[in-house]
Amino acid sequence: MANVAFDYTNLVEVEGGIGDGELRELRPRLEETMSTFLEDPPGFMRLPETDELSEPSKALAEEVRASGATDFVHVGIGGSALSPAALHRALNHPFYNLLADRGGPRLHFAENTDPATLSAILDVADLAGTWANVVTKSGSTAETMANFLVIRGALVETLGEYAYGERVVFTTDPEEGYLVQIAGREGIRTLQIPPDVGGRFSVLTPVGLFPAAVTGLDVDALLRGAAQCAGEVKERGADHPAVQGAAYHYLVDTARGRNVRVMMTYADALDRFAAWFVQLWAESLGKEGKGSTPHGAVGTIDQHSQVQLYMEGPQDKVIEIVEVEEHPRDLPIPEAYKDLEGVGYLGGHTMAELLNVECNATRKALTEAGRPNSTIRIDAIDEEHLGYLFHALEVQTAIAGSLYGVNTFDQPGVEAGKQITYSRMGRSGY
Ligand code: PA5
Repeated sequence: MANVAFDYTNLVEVEGGIGDGELRELRPRLEETMSTFLEDPPGFMRLPETDELSEPSKALAEEVRASGATDFVHVGIGGSALSPAALHRALNHPFYNLLADRGGPRLHFAENTDPATLSAILDVADLAGTWANVVTKSGSTAETMANFLVIRGALVETLGEYAYGERVVFTTDPEEGYLVQIAGREGIRTLQIPPDVGGRFSVLTPVGLFPAAVTGLDVDALLRGAAQCAGEVKERGADHPAVQGAAYHYLVDTARGRNVRVMMTYADALDRFAAWFVQLWAESLGKEGKGSTPHGAVGTIDQHSQVQLYMEGPQDKVIEIVEVEEHPRDLPIPEAYKDLEGVGYLGGHTMAELLNVECNATRKALTEAGRPNSTIRIDAIDEEHLGYLFHALEVQTAIAGSLYGVNTFDQPGVEAGKQITYSRMGRSGY
């Protein structure tokens, strides 16, 4: 069982924090929003309870692993890349690609159209053993298609026009988009992203599951954690702490003017998870002049970079600490230099202990200075806890969208730039 706790005490108890009255006043809207949400749940809500998407992902991943693949290039951007990148960063060894006994291919992410990155991937990848997974729900995103065309060219050159297709997988909408057409022409295998699940809510579709399974992660445990969260959300409705978080964050923005939401993870492994959340919150809520600005930070590193600003800069922020009870690994700090008081005191403690003591210290310092903060506490960084957390924050974002009165699931603001790019790159009709 995943043990995930959401603690909002320091959003209420700091001076100038959210008042009980404000929460009470919002409560009927929260309950109404929640019952509408549960009566007609968005597509992502059913994902934890089905194996329709995980089974094909696992089977194909097994094939990739059994083929002796050396490299696996995940091609995608935005919601089509951030969740698998978060999973990889959190759960695989930080130097996974360098490990001789990693048990799966090296994993590369081709997201941007920066030629330096793609060239670097091609420098490293052994094309004779390379698979490419092209992930685009719309099947037409320029960045993804450009990366695909370059990788396709390289694979065709190495493997030949026909054999290259055996090393390519398309993860896309079952019916819409150009990838479906190309798959039909070239016999390329596809994994499906359900039409009613948008990119940033797609971690539990093959977008997140397939690359995770390719690197040997336990996708069943990921789904189990998400299903636990989904069950608890259904049971507790507006009392579920992730749902209540939507109300707290909505109020801290709209009633307190704190419109920067900082997610500060006290674990390096969760830095890409924060990047995933930043996109989820930003693209879902930033509409019609509404929404708060999400920002990712890492403790302790950003104590030496940003905490000064949080403590004494403009009071427009709310800090959300993500704390890990049991770190996956720990190291004792050896005793040495006992005569030097600024060094010797560290010996006999452990690195994880120091990390968590600093986490507590930051929380206490913020609270004592009257800076609103909340904490998400997870027992461990593993598939089950991450599954729970992904799902909980998706629910929270969807409920927050309703409180703000925006459409959580569209992103009209990114269209204009796309149209101009199409026109300048000579796409007909633009
Ligand atoms: O969350 C979203 O919907 C977006 O960030 C998309 O994932 C992103 O624009 C990429 O779209 P596509 O998967 O269609 O290539």
